[in-house]
Amino acid sequence: MHSCLQDDLNSKTLQASPFTLKKFSEQAAISLSYTNYLERQNLLESNARSYPRRIPIAIKRAQGIYIEDTKGQLFIDCLAGAGTLALGHNHPVIHNVLKNYLDSSGPLHTLDITTPTKDTFIKDVFDILPAEFAQKAHIQFCGPSGADATEAAIKLAKTATGRRSVLAFSGGYHGMTHGALSLTGNLAAKTPVSNLMPEVHFLPYPYEFRCPFGLKGEQSIASNLHYIENLLSDPESGITTPAAIIVEAVQGEGGMIPAPARWLKGLREITARFDIPLILDEIQCGIGRTGDMFAFEYADIVPDMILLSKAIGGGLPLSLVLFDKSLDKWNPGAHAGTFRGNQMAMAAGSATLDVIRTEQLCQNASLMGERLRQHLQEIQRQYSHIGDVRGRGLMIGVEIVNPEKLLNDGSPTPSGELAAKIQRECLKKGLILELGGRNGCTVRFLPPLIIKPEEIDRVAEIFAQATQVALENT
Ligand SMILES: Cc1ncc(COP(=O)(O)O)c(C=O)c1O
Repeated sequence: MHSCLQDDLNSKTLQASPFTLKKFSEQAAISLSYTNYLERQNLLESNARSYPRRIPIAIKRAQGIYIEDTKGQLFIDCLAGAGTLALGHNHPVIHNVLKNYLDSSGPLHTLDITTPTKDTFIKDVFDILPAEFAQKAHIQFCGPSGADATEAAIKLAKTATGRRSVLAFSGGYHGMTHGALSLTGNLAAKTPVSNLMPEVHFLPYPYEFRCPFGLKGEQSIASNLHYIENLLSDPESGITTPAAIIVEAVQGEGGMIPAPARWLKGLREITARFDIPLILDEIQCGIGRTGDMFAFEYADIVPDMILLSKAIGGGLPLSLVLFDKSLDKWNPGAHAGTFRGNQMAMAAGSATLDVIRTEQLCQNASLMGERLRQHLQEIQRQYSHIGDVRGRGLMIGVEIVNPEKLLNDGSPTPSGELAAKIQRECLKKGLILELGGRNGCTVRFLPPLIIKPEEIDRVAEIFAQATQVALENT
């Protein structure tokens, strides 16, 4: 066992009664299970822990797209910190930048006071923005999580417009804080929490495989846009003109669902016409993952706000809102937070953007994504339990279905159960994947952008074998 963890546990104390202080290690249950990381994790961490339930490993080392667990098994990491690790684990450039920063006597943390590192980072971020947006943009550094970027953006939109409602999309994910959760589709997370942010309304997302209007292709897109436009113009819609509409250009947690370019363009056009700020949540799909620096770029649109977190900090916590400065009606201190000044994250973020550019990782994400999609489509031809293969760049989803059980509209039911079996088999064979979408029916591929062709082939090979085994055991 890690001696530092042991020391840590030994040094902690629990108050067993008002008069007796017992050392943590003296608690029988804990000392009995000292040799097992997972047992201890289950014992001590809250019931809300999520990934360890499906990926029950303890990670010892990590390099590139690989991680090694404490038992010595090697895994290909196609989760990559939920898309955070664009350059994979311990990329040598990031490693050096962080080491050099530590040796430089630079501050680790500065609230929102500026530094040369921050100044460079802001310039680097503005350099990747679409020129039209960069010319009129302001930046707000947020507390370190993506959810705080969501919170900041909604507060800003409400302040700027003086309006109170917000529109979001079914299947969308914007974080787990009170406000962000209100804008998130997933009912399992929302149902137990009462009094979420009021006046949030949900619109249908253009989920082509399961079109909410039961239509296909162009008809599905046109109906969706018509629905939104009608809602906004109907004086009896029941929804006051919103302060903002928030959307992901590719829904990540919702099941790797890319919005068609024509739909995004339509949404931009409608929101501009109704003077509603359009927020693009690029926290998961941004920073090269979809083959463009920002996922919305393939639709050739310019949003009013962009949310960034995950990869923008080079693997360290950082989150930002970039927005049209005409919306900047904030008073001083209107959105604050202690951890807005993580200098190592800014240094790592600048280095990440540099590596993405010099190693042409957007292009690699497109090429490798296409390669993986082709493999997965080939596998789909062999198994009717694979309902859909979709995505953009290295943000790919495989929706698992039960072809024998049909819904009323004749489409196969989503099968979270089989998806979980495939995920487990993949893990046994050394491939880490995550699930998402309705009832976890979509297997999600989010590898680092540095992944190579032969590694993509291996990922697909393991997935095919795991699918075969999972189906044999159903
Ligand atoms: C699109 C999107 N928005 C917001 C968030 C929330 O980010 P965080 O978990 O850092 O709060 C996530 C996290 O997965 C996300 O995928």
